[in-house]
Amino acid sequence: MCGIVGYVGKRQAAPILLQGLHRLEYRGYDSAGIAVGSKGKLRIAKRKGRVRELDALQPQKFKGTFGIAHTRWASHGEPSDRNAHPHCDATGRYAVVHNGIVENAAALRAQLTERGCIFASDTDSEVFAHLIAFADDGSPLESVVASALRRIVGAYGIAVIDAQRPDTLVVARNGSPLVLGIGDGEMFFASDPAALVRHTTSVLHLDDGEIASVHADGYETRTLDGAATNKPASTLPWKDEAFDKGAFAHYMRKEIAEQPEAVRRALSGRLDRRFGTTHLGGIQLAARDLLDVRRVKILGCGAAYLAGAIGAHLIETLARLPADAEPASEFRYRNAVIERDTLYIAVSQSGETFDTLAAVQEIKRKGGRVLGVVNVVGSTIARECGQGIYLHAGPEVSVVSTKTFTCSAVALALLAIHLGRLRDLSVARGARLIEALQALPEHIAAILDREPEIARLAEYMMDAEHAFYVGRGAGYAVAMEGALKLKEVSYLHAEAYPASELKHGPLALISPQTPTVVVLPRDDLFAKNISTVEEVKARGGPVIAITHPGEASTAFDRSFEIPALEPELDPLLLNIPLQLLAYHVALQRGTNIDQPRNLAKALTVE
Ligand code: F6R
Repeated sequence: MCGIVGYVGKRQAAPILLQGLHRLEYRGYDSAGIAVGSKGKLRIAKRKGRVRELDALQPQKFKGTFGIAHTRWASHGEPSDRNAHPHCDATGRYAVVHNGIVENAAALRAQLTERGCIFASDTDSEVFAHLIAFADDGSPLESVVASALRRIVGAYGIAVIDAQRPDTLVVARNGSPLVLGIGDGEMFFASDPAALVRHTTSVLHLDDGEIASVHADGYETRTLDGAATNKPASTLPWKDEAFDKGAFAHYMRKEIAEQPEAVRRALSGRLDRRFGTTHLGGIQLAARDLLDVRRVKILGCGAAYLAGAIGAHLIETLARLPADAEPASEFRYRNAVIERDTLYIAVSQSGETFDTLAAVQEIKRKGGRVLGVVNVVGSTIARECGQGIYLHAGPEVSVVSTKTFTCSAVALALLAIHLGRLRDLSVARGARLIEALQALPEHIAAILDREPEIARLAEYMMDAEHAFYVGRGAGYAVAMEGALKLKEVSYLHAEAYPASELKHGPLALISPQTPTVVVLPRDDLFAKNISTVEEVKARGGPVIAITHPGEASTAFDRSFEIPALEPELDPLLLNIPLQLLAYHVALQRGTNIDQPRNLAKALTVE
C-alpha cells in the first residue's frame, strides 16, 4: 500500500526522504509527495505518478533538517496532484501523511466544512490536517495530535510535522504499520523497514494505539491516553545491499533467481536427518501439545493462501491430520467456529496484510492457537502470533511474490514433517523427505539454468487472451499460483481449475486460441490427468505440460520436465517453471513487471 518516510536530525532531510520514497515505491506508486520544514515554514512538493516524476519538481533542493514524505496507492480520491500527500491545514503550517482509511471521513469533512474549512483534495486523509489545526491549544504536538486522533474512526499510520515546532515530529499507528529507526543524533521512521536499513538497523515497531514524539536525539512512545509504553528496540536482520536489483532487469527475476539461497536459509538448522524430523525453534508448543492437535487450518491471502493450500495438502498427507487452507479475507468475516484442538496458521510475506491480521486477531479473541509463517521479522502478524516459523527469504521487493511463496511452502513442509513424525510418519520416510529437502536448492538452481526453454514456452503463449491452468490435489494449488502469477504480471487472463472439474463446464471455452497449462506430476493420478489432457486436445486446445521425465505423451504440444522428488514435495519444484513462464510472457508482452497496474505490495487496508 502507501509508503511513509520521515527524518529529523542534523542532515538535510530532502535527499534522505526521496531516497526512502524510491525504496518504498513498491508499496504504492500512483503519486508521491514530500514536506520539509525550515525557519518556521514548510516546503511541499507533490505530484501524480512515480517518484521520479516528483524528482522533476526538484524537491531535493528543499533546505531543512526535518520532514515527511509519502508514496500513494489511491483508496479515497483518484490519483492526482491534489490528492497526493502530504496534506495541509488551511494555513500550511501542519503537514500530514497517512496510510489507511478514515471510515468517518464524510462526517468529519461535513463538520469541518461547517467550521469554514475548504478542502483542497478528495482524500479522507486531509481531515487529519484540519483536525490537528483546530486541536492546537499550544500543548506539545503529541497531545494535539492525540486529541485529533480521538475523533478518527478507521485505520491509520500517520506522520505529522508542524512548521513552528521544528524539533518534534509525531507519528501514530492504528492498523497500519510504522517503524522508528534509531540513528546517532538523528531519527528516521517509515511504514516499512525497507526504507530504514540504509541508515540504521536499530528499530522500534509501534503497536496499534501508540503515538510517538520523534526528535533528533530520541523518541518517546505513549498510548493515546498518555501512558508511557517503554519498549526495547530490536535489530533488523536485513542489509541494504539485499534491496539492490543488481544486474537483473527486474526484481521479480532477481527474486526468482534467489530461490536456491532463500530455500537454503529457510531450511538451515531445521533439518534432522538422523531422526527424520525437523526442528522449529520458533514454535513454543511441546510435543504433547502438538499431539493434541486434531485439525489444521491455514490462512493467508493471494499467493500466501495458495502456499497454505500446498501446506495443507502436505500436512494431511504426512501427518494424517485433516487440514485445509482458506483465504483469510473470507475467514475473518464468517464468524468461524474456533476449535480448541485446531492449530491455526497464518501465512504472510509482509506480516502486515490487514485481512490476515484480522483473521489472527479473531482467532485469538476466541481463544484459538495461531502460528505465523512470516517473512518480515518483527512485523505485526509475527508479533501478534508470538510464535511460528520465519521464512528467512530476505526482502521481497517485486509486487508479485515468488521466493516467499516457495519458502512459505517449504516452511509448511517442515511443519508437516514435524507433525508427521509425532504421529505415523516413520523415521525412514522422514529421513527420505529430509534428504529431498536438502536437495531442493540444487534442483531449483538446475531448473533456473534452463530458462531459455521456458522463454520458448512463453512465446507459445504470449498471443493468447485466455489460458487455463489445471492440476489435481496439491498440483491444483500449484496451478492456481501459476495462473495468479500470469494474470498479475502479464495481464493475460488465466483461470485455474481442478483438472477433474474441466469437463463439468469450462471445457466449453477450450479452443485453439486457449492454451491449457497442465501440472502433471507422475503420481497416482497421472493417468487421470492424461484423460483431461485428451479432453482438451479433442477440442483443439493447445496443451503445455509441466511434468516429470518419462514417456512423453503425444498429446502435449509443449512440455517442460522437472526432476522427481519425494512425491509429496513435488509441488515445491513444479511451481518454479510456472514463475519463469509468467515472467517471460510478461516480458514478451512488455508489461511493467515489478509494478503491475492496480496492484501494490502489502495490503495494509481492507
Ligand atoms: C501475489 C501476491 C499477493 C500476496 C498477498 C498476501 O503474487 O504477492 O497475492 O501474496 O497480497 O501478501 P502477504 O504475503 O504479504 O500477506
